Amino acid sequence: MIELDNVAYSYDFGGRELFSDVSLKLSPGSFHFLTGPSGAGKTTFLKLCYGALRPSSGAVRLFGEDLGEMGRDGVALSRRRIGVVHQDCQFLDHLTVRENVALPLMVAGEDVTAEQANLAELLSWVGLSERADALPPELSGGERQRAALARAVIMSPDVVLADEPTGNIDWEMAQRLMRLLVELNRMGKTIMIATHDLGLVRAAKSQVQARILRIGGGRLQLAGADL
Ligand SMILES: Nc1ncnc2c1ncn2[C@@H]1O[C@H](COP(=O)(O)OP(=O)(O)OP(=O)(O)O)[C@@H](O)[C@H]1O
Ligand SMILES: [Mg+2]
Repeated sequence: MIELDNVAYSYDFGGRELFSDVSLKLSPGSFHFLTGPSGAGKTTFLKLCYGALRPSSGAVRLFGEDLGEMGRDGVALSRRRIGVVHQDCQFLDHLTVRENVALPLMVAGEDVTAEQANLAELLSWVGLSERADALPPELSGGERQRAALARAVIMSPDVVLADEPTGNIDWEMAQRLMRLLVELNRMGKTIMIATHDLGLVRAAKSQVQARILRIGGGRLQLAGADL
C-alpha cells in the first residue's frame, strides 16, 4: 500500500536531517503504531506517507507508484485512498459537523445529496448523530476527534493515518476512539496511528496485532516487546 525505501527528510534543503535511512512497508490490513517523543518527526513521517511532503532522498511508493514520478493528479488520486486524521483536526469552523465530514466528497465532485444516507450512517457510527448540526468550536475534544475520524473515512479509503487521534481527550474516550480504529482494521483497512501515549499502545495489544515503530534520534525502529 505505502512503501518507503531508504527515505531521508530535512525541512531545510541541505540542512540537518530529521531522519534518514527509513524503510517501511505498510501491507494491506496491517496495523502500526508510530511512537516517539514530541518533535521526533511523527507528523512529518505521516506527511511523507500520504504524499504531502516529498523525501529529500530515497523513494516513497503509494499503491505501487513512485511518488517522484507522479504528477499532481496522480498524487491527488492516491490521496483519495488514504484517510488522514490530522493532529489539529483542521475543520472549517463556519461549516457544521455534517458539512465538514462531507467536505472530501464535495472536493472530489461527488453528489453529496446522494450520499446523505452514508453520511448519516457514518455520523451514527462515530456517535455524532445528535451533533451533526453543531459547529466545530462547539464540540468537546472527543467529539472533534470522532468527527475528524468520520471525515477521514467518508471516501472509503484503503489506508487510515491518524496523527495523535487521542490527544487532549480522557482515557475512556481514547479507548472508544481506539475501538473505532480497530473496527476499521477488522474491515480490512490498513491503519497507522502516531501517538506519544504508550499507555494507549499497551492497552491496544489485547485488541489488535500491531507493529510498534519508534521514531527518534533520526531513525525509525521496531520497538521492543518490553513496551
Ligand atoms: N514546516 C516545518 N518547517 C520546519 N521545521 C518543521 C516544520 N514542521 C516541523 N518541523 C520540525 O521538525 C521536527 C519534527 O516535527 P513533527 O511535527 O514531525 O514532530 P512530532 O513527532 O509530530 O511532534 P509532536 O509529538 O509534538 O506532534 C520538529 O523539530 C519541528 O520543529
Ligand atoms: Mg505531531
